[in-house]
Amino acid sequence: MKFFIDTANLAQIKEANDLGILDGVTTNPSLMAKEGIKGEQAIMNHYKTIAELVDGDVSAEVISTDFDGMVAEGKKLAAIRPNIVVKVPMIKDGVKALKWFSDNNIKTNCTLVFSAGQAILAAKAGANYVSPFIGRIDDGGWDGVQLIEQIAGIYTIQGFETEILAASIRNPLHIIKCAEAGADVCTCPLDSILGLLKHPLTDIGLAKFLADAKGVK
Ligand code: E4P
Repeated sequence: MKFFIDTANLAQIKEANDLGILDGVTTNPSLMAKEGIKGEQAIMNHYKTIAELVDGDVSAEVISTDFDGMVAEGKKLAAIRPNIVVKVPMIKDGVKALKWFSDNNIKTNCTLVFSAGQAILAAKAGANYVSPFIGRIDDGGWDGVQLIEQIAGIYTIQGFETEILAASIRNPLHIIKCAEAGADVCTCPLDSILGLLKHPLTDIGLAKFLADAKGVK
């Protein structure tokens, strides 16, 4: 399973990248706004900076909701750098745009996916990634990981090549469960990635090893 970081914060992207386990980045308009990035030029520059920082795919989301607007925006985003992936919402014009991008060799990530039916449409339209929002599904009292499992089953049976990108991850357990459920990629906040490191027995064991090492010096 690939690890993407879900942020537009450059310090966090660098920290995750320095760990050596980062395969890409996802952003969305809310994450860009959180970093105070406003205005078309500033947004394009920020995507360029992120795409230069990491080797892997960087999702940059369109904000148009009509086919022509999404295509125009997506073309500009894809021209920033070859590792930019155009993020398109799961709406009717979005499906048309996904197909257009696929026919024109522009990589896409279909976002705001909450059902297996939407995931089938994204794959049919040729999306490279489909992003089911695990945490937001859980927030509503449903089971986000179960959706990953269902989509993984359907994609295997049908031979769809779209990669399942588990999004809206809230904690380390989500990452583990998504790996078990067959996600191809997990996009996570830095805290959830670092949370995977933690185990009290590791800390206790290391403290003992270091203490014993001092004793034998
Ligand atoms: C990433 O592609 C999504 O936009 C993101 O994971 C959504 O996460 P949230 O539900 O925490 O906003």
